[in-house]
Amino acid sequence: MSYKTNWRTPSNIALVKYWGKHPVQIPANTSLSFTLDACHTDTNIQLTEKKSSDPFEVSVNLDGVLRPDFQPKILSLLGRIESEISFAKDYHLTINTSNSFPHSSGIASSASGMAAIALGLLDLKKQIEGNIEGDFFQKASEWARLGSGSACRSLYGGLVSWGEHSSIRGSSDLYGTPFLEDIDPSIKTFKDYVLLVEVGSKSVSSTAGHDLMKNHPFASARFTQANQNIDRLIRILKTGELSDFGQLVESEALSLHAMMMSSIPYYILMKPNTLKIIEAIWRFREESKLDVYFTLDAGANVHLLFPASIEQKINNFVNQELSGYLNKAQYICDQVGNGPIKLKDV
Ligand code: DP6
Repeated sequence: MSYKTNWRTPSNIALVKYWGKHPVQIPANTSLSFTLDACHTDTNIQLTEKKSSDPFEVSVNLDGVLRPDFQPKILSLLGRIESEISFAKDYHLTINTSNSFPHSSGIASSASGMAAIALGLLDLKKQIEGNIEGDFFQKASEWARLGSGSACRSLYGGLVSWGEHSSIRGSSDLYGTPFLEDIDPSIKTFKDYVLLVEVGSKSVSSTAGHDLMKNHPFASARFTQANQNIDRLIRILKTGELSDFGQLVESEALSLHAMMMSSIPYYILMKPNTLKIIEAIWRFREESKLDVYFTLDAGANVHLLFPASIEQKINNFVNQELSGYLNKAQYICDQVGNGPIKLKDV
């Protein structure tokens, strides 16, 4: 008997950033993200006859090409949930994955990728062992977190939090929680244009960056700031005050990069064109009075955030003033999305 499963899972972009963690994959502060739509990963997993006596036998293909370099992170996830996936030890797991965004575009694929693997594994467990105890997506989010922290926020659409916080009902350090409070309609349907400044993998991984928060001189102030920003953001989401939203989100992005620049060893992931784009956004915003803001993840790319109602004007701005700073003028027009979908088996 052979089993298969196939899922599409979105990437996400944090508004309040997760940066710093405790073992095992417990966040040092609460984070809150937008789930994306156009940036997603399709992953099918097939179980076939096992050939070796290794505890887990896995092969991973990206766009049809075998990628042994992806194996360690996946084996680490399998090891962490070993007691819950004993079925997987009886098979060879073939994981076929592909991203909607350009390969090596600098967009983190670990969030969408790990979320897809977690969903696939849980679906296979259900096929083989029968019903899953508790909530299916919550369990998948817990497993995704053990693969990559930010991945646990990719299991739901809209806004998603991760990390226990007294102001967010149902929030947990163990899994992502859909943020279902009052959200202004214009923020709920925000656009995110991902401006591709750099291609290729980044010089310092996020996992190494989290590690540097352990002895960071500003760590405790940063964790307090993030948790306070969650409270501020919750209020802003209700009122829909876009200039306050932008100020908070830009401050979060720059605080994240400030942590990298002030850790030992210190490092810089922004590139000269990242700064040129930020300056252009600030100039354009001042002149046009339009609500356009940026955030960054742990890389050089810039996420341009704005309400859907001004998309045409932002399109013109990007094409006229920003495309010269981009790698091959590439950018991805994305927006807040609805979460994972199950695909037909292949
Ligand atoms: C800057 O989730 O990639 O994107 O848990 O070590 O896999 P690991 O790290 P990862 O870190 C993401 C950090 C971030 C901010 C965020 O998404 O909240």
